Amino acid sequence: MNSTSILEASAVRSWPEQQRDARIPAWIYSDPALFEREMEVFHTGPTWNFVGLECEIAQPGAYKRSWIGTRQVVMVRDENGEIQVLENRCAHRGAMLVWENKGVVKDFTCPYHHWNYDLQGNLLGLPFFRGAMGKGGMPRDFKKAEHSLRRLRVALRGGLVWATYSDETPPLDDYLGPEIGALVDRAAGGGRPLKLLGYNRQLLPCNWKLYLENSRDPYHATLLHSFFVTFGLLRTDTAFKAVPTIGGRHAIMASTYSAATANTQNEVTKELASLKSDFRLEDMELVKPVDEFGDSSMINFSVLPSVFFQQHGNSLALRHIIPKSPTQTELSWTHYGFADDDEAMENRRIKQANLMGPAGYVAIDDSEVLAMMQPSVNAAPDSVQVVEMGGRDVSPQETMVTETLIRGFYSYYREKMGL
Ligand SMILES: [Fe+2]
Repeated sequence: MNSTSILEASAVRSWPEQQRDARIPAWIYSDPALFEREMEVFHTGPTWNFVGLECEIAQPGAYKRSWIGTRQVVMVRDENGEIQVLENRCAHRGAMLVWENKGVVKDFTCPYHHWNYDLQGNLLGLPFFRGAMGKGGMPRDFKKAEHSLRRLRVALRGGLVWATYSDETPPLDDYLGPEIGALVDRAAGGGRPLKLLGYNRQLLPCNWKLYLENSRDPYHATLLHSFFVTFGLLRTDTAFKAVPTIGGRHAIMASTYSAATANTQNEVTKELASLKSDFRLEDMELVKPVDEFGDSSMINFSVLPSVFFQQHGNSLALRHIIPKSPTQTELSWTHYGFADDDEAMENRRIKQANLMGPAGYVAIDDSEVLAMMQPSVNAAPDSVQVVEMGGRDVSPQETMVTETLIRGFYSYYREKMGL
């Protein structure tokens, strides 16, 4: 479907003419035709999608299910040690092939008619190929080689597995660009082997773009998240950079933490109703990061279309944004550390991970506010939102009090969607 027919299907729905970069029409959070088009443009289109970590499938035959938009895939290490990403869909009748989230197998057999594939997705065999009792069976000219599983292009960087459906996707390094590429390497500890620490998963009753915006919105961080402010992990007077890259495709948020600002009051803290300077945690390790990257910085960044790299203190995680429907999004968290972490660091990472995930001291606020936002945008699809904090353009800014990264995303989005 092209963008013209989207607008026809969406009746009078269009993008506001005035202040285009600084306005968002609410209909884009619930429109089914638009959602289908987004999946084609941003997920199965010419983009690189996060699939999982290389360390999750260490030995041959190890696999893990994942998602690219609404399509399910399986990443698997084949007999040669290479990583394959295959669509989790039998080439016969389209049944779901792999039903477990993780495992180790020699090959894949579809539960429906037992068609059997090797770890590269090649069809090895199928029952009753020549029929039974001289009857039935496949036509003589049926060629197994023409009925493999759909195999995606794969690239590796930063210990992560990335995949794309499109032959037109540029090489991963070009797609990420130099700034994001460097941060992907930083998040991977400059090449240290990663170690899986665990998972959280949650279903958010909201459109995927509401979560994507949230993850590019430093303005809300010290207002909604009272935990951050109360315990000094992040404050609006923290040195901060918000940098959109490649025309808004990706987004970087970098802050510097400082013990000096953690419990002081100044003109900024007067704006923060939630600051309670007499509150103390029993265990301050929860909010006391160790400077492991040597730059006293927390750098969080968002890679279009579906992954957010989290560094909150020493809690490192990939947040995988998985659209399910116009109003449902799965958020899948993969927490990791490094294979050579000492025990104290590993424990610190796990403890600090309590800020994040479905019940995290910080992240729970986002889930709640977005769950309450979706019915509100559903009920008023012709309403328009304002994103003018920090100006109306798309530019790098050195403040948290900005919506430049949201403007950047929609500038890029509109161009790709033809809106
Ligand atoms: Fe948040």
